Amino acid sequence: MRLDRTLANSGIGTRSSVRSLIASGGVSVNGVIAKDPGMQVTEADKITCKGVEVGQKENLYFLLDKPDAVLTAMEDPRLSCVGDFIPQELKSKKLAPVGRLDYHTTGLLIITNDGELSHRLQSPKYHVAKRYLVTFEGPSWSEKEIEAVASGITLTDMDTPVKTAPAELSVIDGHNAEITLYEGKTHEVRRIFAHFGKEVIALRRVSLAGLEIDPSCGNTGNIRELTEEEIKLLKSAVRL
Ligand code: URA
Repeated sequence: MRLDRTLANSGIGTRSSVRSLIASGGVSVNGVIAKDPGMQVTEADKITCKGVEVGQKENLYFLLDKPDAVLTAMEDPRLSCVGDFIPQELKSKKLAPVGRLDYHTTGLLIITNDGELSHRLQSPKYHVAKRYLVTFEGPSWSEKEIEAVASGITLTDMDTPVKTAPAELSVIDGHNAEITLYEGKTHEVRRIFAHFGKEVIALRRVSLAGLEIDPSCGNTGNIRELTEEEIKLLKSAVRL
């Protein structure tokens, strides 16, 4: 991760105050004064700030199989939310969901305190693949419609028309399909289906950046830590 982000994550200050600190020669990496705020550092590097060692934050990575009727938020005064699935002893670790699934969308949700990874996984710049299983009502998909989704369509259902990025849609049967998006516009799957007169009845994310949800979890609220390989897979998908 970048030196300035690492320091900001460690609570030393904001990104800009940390950059000033680096510019003034106040930060050393492995005993050498750091000049470049964009310098890449890892947990193995010893970072000192005005001579005091900086404790690098422990990064945690979880995969939640989000159930239906759960809000993608860490806290909510009224509704069940994904924060309710985080063990009490980890509540202080600044974990946050990577992006959002709708209240009624189920499936794969990453929860982490690795801000850089989270940012990149959500950025359209990195074209992260997100695959969804969709159950829908309405007319069957035509070849022409599938091609339109593949080229990108213009959604006109909100104040400003918006063009979707190319997406891959494959039909399973008259009521089920799979769609892979490479961006994450608000309610994008539901809106793409609605654009073609189809109503999404159930939506489940089954894969993100090549990471697949455990088929046995089945929308249960199961939560587990990612393995080292899975963390590497996510990071390599966004060039970290
Ligand atoms: N697209 C949607 O419409 N909803 C989600 O929760 C995720 C993608």
